[in-house]
Amino acid sequence: MIDRIAQIRDRAEAQISAAADSGALEAARIEYLGRRAELPNLLRHVAELAPDQRAAVGKAANEARRALEDAIARKQAELAAHELEQRLASDRVDVTLPADPQPDLGRLHLLTQTRREIEDVFVGLGFNVAEGPEVETVYYNFDALNHAPTHPSRLMSDTFYVKADGTVDIFDPQTHLLRVHTSPMQIRAMESQPPPIYIILPGRVYRPDSDATHTPQFHQIEGLAVDTDITLADLQGTLLTFARAIFGEERQVRLRPHFFPFTEPSVEVDVSCFNCTDGVAADGRRCPLCKGTAWIEILGAGMVDPNVFEYVREHGYDPEQVQGFAFGMGIERIAMLKHGIPDLRLFFDNDVRFLEQF
Ligand code: DAH
Repeated sequence: MIDRIAQIRDRAEAQISAAADSGALEAARIEYLGRRAELPNLLRHVAELAPDQRAAVGKAANEARRALEDAIARKQAELAAHELEQRLASDRVDVTLPADPQPDLGRLHLLTQTRREIEDVFVGLGFNVAEGPEVETVYYNFDALNHAPTHPSRLMSDTFYVKADGTVDIFDPQTHLLRVHTSPMQIRAMESQPPPIYIILPGRVYRPDSDATHTPQFHQIEGLAVDTDITLADLQGTLLTFARAIFGEERQVRLRPHFFPFTEPSVEVDVSCFNCTDGVAADGRRCPLCKGTAWIEILGAGMVDPNVFEYVREHGYDPEQVQGFAFGMGIERIAMLKHGIPDLRLFFDNDVRFLEQF
């Protein structure tokens, strides 16, 4: 009897360990441990055996049953792990495969592209890039930039002032406003580091205007270089390099006298028209871009007014020791000129038919 049990156990163990899947394993379980299997039945009849055999046979049969149950449980776990592994391998989706059809990838907004392009030019010339607050104070936006108390930009109608209850003292240096230009960052940059400084300062600016060439919010890039022995020629050379990088190697620049409160002398800078020859377009008519003048205004600039340095003197800017140039340009204007965009508002309409062209 005991031999028979050992025989059954050997066979069952071989079959269990050979089971290739959970179906085969279940078949083995039914065959050896099921209700009609020999081993459990053998156990049921132990009582009928001769007393001297009962204990040994019972023990062997019980051991065999427990060993088979353990072997089945182990095999079950093994098969389950293996089957999971196989399913993971066969179901795997390669998320790195290109989609079919290819989805239309997004792109940078033309203004972002233009800002980065301009930044790259100046970074190549050794300038750093920094940004600052769009909610400014009267002090940084006007006072420290040498604006007279009567300067018209200070009017409520020309600047967005910020105050919850609507009462605004436009002469209080601490009154808050939405900056009308990036020039306040000239002061903040000089407060944060001593000369020499070569920096450009891009960002959003705000003015209460709205038509085809004005939006209440737009973008500027400010430039500031302060060092010893800086002259207007450095400004001109810097802007010539900029103009050629953005508008083409053939470009020239010219400086026209102008007025800004924070530069002296001040200039407006024109780039030679890239759409015509001497103001005459390819079709023989007056060039519509430069209006026949052969020059296009691109920005304002000048030598930093000594009065401005007085506001940051304690940060190392002694007007007897340092000179600087500054400039400020509209990013939209540069992009419009470069790409022939007729209406400023197109930048902000979010019409993909426009955006996708760039
Ligand atoms: N802040 C001026 C504006 O918004 C532009 C400008 C002119 C900036 C001359 C400058 C500058 O730095 O020197 O119209």
